[in-house]
Amino acid sequence: MQKIGFIFDLDGVIVDTAKYHYLAWKKLANELGFEFTKEQNEMFKGVSRKRCLEILLDIGNITASQEQFDTWMVDKNVDYLAYIENMDESEVLPDVPRVLSYLKDNNIPIALGSASKNARPILEKVKLLSFFDSIVDGNNVTKAKPDPEVFLIAAENLGVQPSKCIVFEDAVAGIQAANSARMISIGIGDEKVLSEAQFNFNDFTEIDDDFLVKLLS
Ligand code: BG6
Ligand code: MG
Repeated sequence: MQKIGFIFDLDGVIVDTAKYHYLAWKKLANELGFEFTKEQNEMFKGVSRKRCLEILLDIGNITASQEQFDTWMVDKNVDYLAYIENMDESEVLPDVPRVLSYLKDNNIPIALGSASKNARPILEKVKLLSFFDSIVDGNNVTKAKPDPEVFLIAAENLGVQPSKCIVFEDAVAGIQAANSARMISIGIGDEKVLSEAQFNFNDFTEIDDDFLVKLLS
């Protein structure tokens, strides 16, 4: 049997950080004189920080010089880091530790495949860093999701064929990236939004051992 690997997205799969990203983007939008809604924030899931700022400025109809753009990228991240400063294990999404422990107990390699450049400190804060054999994040990629680069690097780091990798994702762009990498895509969240995923669950409480055994066989 060929080796199987699991790849987890971070934001919205392991921790609910979307709310903090939203607060930081909203603060910047408000400072620039326009509103930014929770509905608009949906477009930011799985999307790189740079691309998020481009979309935000489009929403506000704002043209920025390169210098302003770079300053706002930094400002947003400073605010985001302040929001997550006190984050701890209590913010890990339900049953994520159970699934990670199950995989670890069965010696299954686990990677992180995230667009975030803050992935490592977040995993440290929520005390899950030790579960991961490889961490591939926004610092390691040149192409953002839906490009499959992040997941292909993760598969290579784990020494697992892409077709033997299973990806958990909450973002449409992430599901598309997993599908382009020819991996098994599992959507975490609204089935209607993540309709391109091969399997879908609202959250990890719906993923039982039988399903994991099925994936491993
Ligand atoms: C993704 C989030 O995981 O990371 C996006 O879903 C975010 O909303 C992106 O923009 C980049 O994150 P960071 O932490 O590098 O700004
Ligand atoms: Mg995500």
